[in-house]
Amino acid sequence: MITEDAKIGVVGAGTMGAGIAQVASTQGHQVYLYDAYSEQLEKAEQGLVKILNRQVEKERMSQEEVDGILSRIEFADNITMFGECSFVIEAVIEDPDVKKDVFSRLEGIVSKDCILASNTSSLSIASISSALKKPERFLGVHFFNPAPLMKLVEVVPGIATDPEIADTTRDFIQSWDKITVSGKDTPGFIVNRVARPFYGEALRIYEEGIADAPTIDWAMKEIGDFRMGPFELMDLIGHDVNYEVTSTVFKAFYYDPRFKPSFAQKRMVEAGWLGRKSGRGFYDYRNGSSNPEPTKDPELGQKIFNRILTMLINEACDAVFMGIASIEDVDLAMQNGVNYPKGLLKWADEIGLHEVLDRMTALQVQYREDRYRPNPLLKKMVSEGKNFYENEE
Ligand SMILES: NC(=O)c1ccc[n+]([C@@H]2O[C@H](COP(=O)([O-])OP(=O)(O)OC[C@H]3O[C@@H](n4cnc5c(N)ncnc54)[C@H](O)[C@@H]3O)[C@@H](O)[C@H]2O)c1
Repeated sequence: MITEDAKIGVVGAGTMGAGIAQVASTQGHQVYLYDAYSEQLEKAEQGLVKILNRQVEKERMSQEEVDGILSRIEFADNITMFGECSFVIEAVIEDPDVKKDVFSRLEGIVSKDCILASNTSSLSIASISSALKKPERFLGVHFFNPAPLMKLVEVVPGIATDPEIADTTRDFIQSWDKITVSGKDTPGFIVNRVARPFYGEALRIYEEGIADAPTIDWAMKEIGDFRMGPFELMDLIGHDVNYEVTSTVFKAFYYDPRFKPSFAQKRMVEAGWLGRKSGRGFYDYRNGSSNPEPTKDPELGQKIFNRILTMLINEACDAVFMGIASIEDVDLAMQNGVNYPKGLLKWADEIGLHEVLDRMTALQVQYREDRYRPNPLLKKMVSEGKNFYENEE
C-alpha cells in the first residue's frame, strides 16, 4: 500500500510530467518534479502557475488551494531526493534509450519498496524493464493529455511485474480521483489500439470517395453523438503525431491490414499540412478561409456511421478476445480516454451482436480483404446467443 502522505517523484517536466505533478500535488502529496533541462523546469513552473491562477479566476479553486498545490511541488534539477519517494513516474521523451538510462539511474537512488512507472504511450513495458535490476516493481501507468482533466489512467504490468505491485498501483492511482483500467503490454495498450478504426476507417471512406471530411465528421457527431469528428480530431492531434501512432501500431502488429495507415494522411504529413498547428489539414484554419459544408444526407450519414462504429466494435471485441482487457475496462477506457459517448461493447449489445456481425460480414464480402474479418469472439457470442453484459437488460 502507498500511504496518503507518500512522496511522489516525476521525471520529465514536459506536457505530461507537469500535468501528472499537478494531479499528485492536488491530492496532497509532496512532489519532486525533475527535468534534465533547467529551461523546461522554468517553463513547467510558469505553465502550472498560469493554469492554476486561471482556476482561481474562474472560481473553481481558492487561492489557498492553489498556493498549497504549488508549494507541494519542488522543481528539482537532480534526482537525489527521489530516495524519499514511494512512487516515481517517468514522463521523458519517447526514446527507449533515454528512458532506460533514467530508470537505471533511478534504481541506484530510490528505496527498495519504491514503485517505478513509465508513462510511455508506444514502447513496450518489457523493453524498458530490461534496464532494471528489479523489474518486478516496474510497470506502465499511462495518463492521457491533459492529465489533470482526463479521468483515465491505463495501468500496464509487464511480463516481469509483480501482480501485487500492479494491484497496489491501480488502487493508488484510483485514489487520485482517476478511473483506472488494466491493460496488457501490447502495442497501443487499450485506447490507442481500439481507437484506430475511428481514424483509419474514416480515412478509408474518404479515400474511396464515398464522402468528404466534413460529411464524415458530421455523420459521426450528428448520428453517433461523438464530440468531434475523426478529421477534426486528427487536425487537432496533428497529422504527424496521429500518422506516427498508426504507423507504429501497424508495424508492431506485424503489418496486420486492420491497422494499415492511409496515403491521404501520409501526403498531409509530407506536405506539412499538420492540422490546426500548421494552419492547414483536412480543414483550412488560416485567417479568412472557409471550409465546405457537409452533405447532410441521412442515408449516407447512417452508412458512414455504421461502418466506422462496426469497425470500432470489432476492434473492441478483439481486445477482449486477446485478453488485453476486460469487457468493462475496454468500455471504461474508450469513454474516459477518448470521450466516446458510450462503451463500444455496451453499444454492441444495444445494436444487437447479430446485427453487428451482419454489418462486419457485409464489409468482408464486399471487399474480400483481411482488414474486414469479423472477430472470432463476436462470431462465437452470436452463435451462442450471448451479450457482453449478460445480466443487464
Ligand atoms: N503528449 C501526450 O499526449 C502524451 C499522452 C500520454 C503519454 N505520453 C507519453 O509521455 C511521455 C512524455 O511526453 P510529453 O508529451 O510530456 O513530452 P514532452 O516533450 O512535452 O516532455 C518530455 C520532457 O522530458 C525531458 N527530458 C528529456 N530527456 C530527459 C532526461 N534524460 N531526464 C529528464 N528529463 C528529460 C525534456 O526536457 C522534456 O521536458 C512520453 O513517453 C509520451 O509518449 C504523451
